[in-house]
Amino acid sequence: MNFGAEQINLDILKKRAFNLRWASVPEGVIPLTAADPDFPCASPIREAITKYVHDGYLSYGPPEGLREFREALAENYHVSKKVLIDPGYILPVDSAAFGIYLICKTFLQPGDEAIIFDPVDFLFRYSIETVNAVAIPFSIPPGTGKVEFNALEELITPRTKMICLCNPLNPTGKVFTKEELLQLGEIATKHDLIILSDEIWSDIIFNPFQFTSISSLESEIINRTITVTGFSKSYGLAGLRIGAVLAPNKQHYARLFNTSLHQSTIHGSNVLGQIAATAALRECGDWLKEFIIHLQKMRDLCVTELNSIKGFNCISPEGCYVAFANITETGLSSEDMQKLILEKAKVSVVPGLKKWFGEGAEGYVRISFASSEYILKEAFSRIKNTIY
Ligand SMILES: Cc1ncc(COP(=O)(O)O)c(C=O)c1O
Repeated sequence: MNFGAEQINLDILKKRAFNLRWASVPEGVIPLTAADPDFPCASPIREAITKYVHDGYLSYGPPEGLREFREALAENYHVSKKVLIDPGYILPVDSAAFGIYLICKTFLQPGDEAIIFDPVDFLFRYSIETVNAVAIPFSIPPGTGKVEFNALEELITPRTKMICLCNPLNPTGKVFTKEELLQLGEIATKHDLIILSDEIWSDIIFNPFQFTSISSLESEIINRTITVTGFSKSYGLAGLRIGAVLAPNKQHYARLFNTSLHQSTIHGSNVLGQIAATAALRECGDWLKEFIIHLQKMRDLCVTELNSIKGFNCISPEGCYVAFANITETGLSSEDMQKLILEKAKVSVVPGLKKWFGEGAEGYVRISFASSEYILKEAFSRIKNTIY
């Protein structure tokens, strides 16, 4: 697979890619916004969906999810992340976003506190607040080398029930080290807290960094961790709304399953999403490797280009395909910069507003680079003609 401009069908993207992307922006604007690739999904995924549909039956799936999908995910987690999980404790859900919400709904009561990183993707705060709990931000500024988790411990009160880990960390691209995860796990164990570990970005790791899953560590940590993952980032399947929750603790799994409402068919993960995700896990390893090689090149291009813009400073992300650029030296706020780039350069980026990433994001803009070199170079040339 090559990840060149000729692979990208803009006519289709402009009709189908919503959520701040091609179908949501005015004609002529390049959206480097929501983290969703411009490339079509891998052929084995398309073939698996086509075959399933061709057979003609689209009946109800099992409430606990398709066995083949749960087995493929358990195997993938074992082989690539050194995590041992029984497929019986994997619950397919209709997106990682819903997985985060489901964990919050299951384990947080109104008034409970949950610690989130700052900055971090909005879904954590949103889910916590939707169940009437309180999100307590723990600052991990972009470029933080070693996180001092002792400072996190000071935020813990008798009402704290959960720590939300986002590894790798969207939007700063930090990949947590084993030592950091052990420290976080020990604090959670000491204070009897649930760990929500969002690992949706765990495949997108750049050389020489390595991903460690917190659920590959000690049994006391594993027992209190619920992992959420998804297929929107690595495989471009956002529209299928497919993800999974991994709960190695039997009681946690039972509570999550009960809260999910899968048994009553009110919710559930649709079978085509599970078929597609199974093909992704079983047949798309080589495609994913090529994609990561391409992304690493795009990351380098993006960081070099961003640092060449007057007043912009950008560290190189260790994982995730987003660059988080500091723009404070331009004298503009994140929102004003986003508006300027949109209006004058016709490029759309995500401003570092509290509603997207928390208070620690002010002074930054986020740029997704899961596109072709041609599109990214065009976007940067436009931005540089606007800000000089
Ligand atoms: C950290 C994180 N978690 C979850 C999601 C949502 O993924 P999904 O499309 O599976 O809901 C995103 C998407 O940007 C994300 O960055």
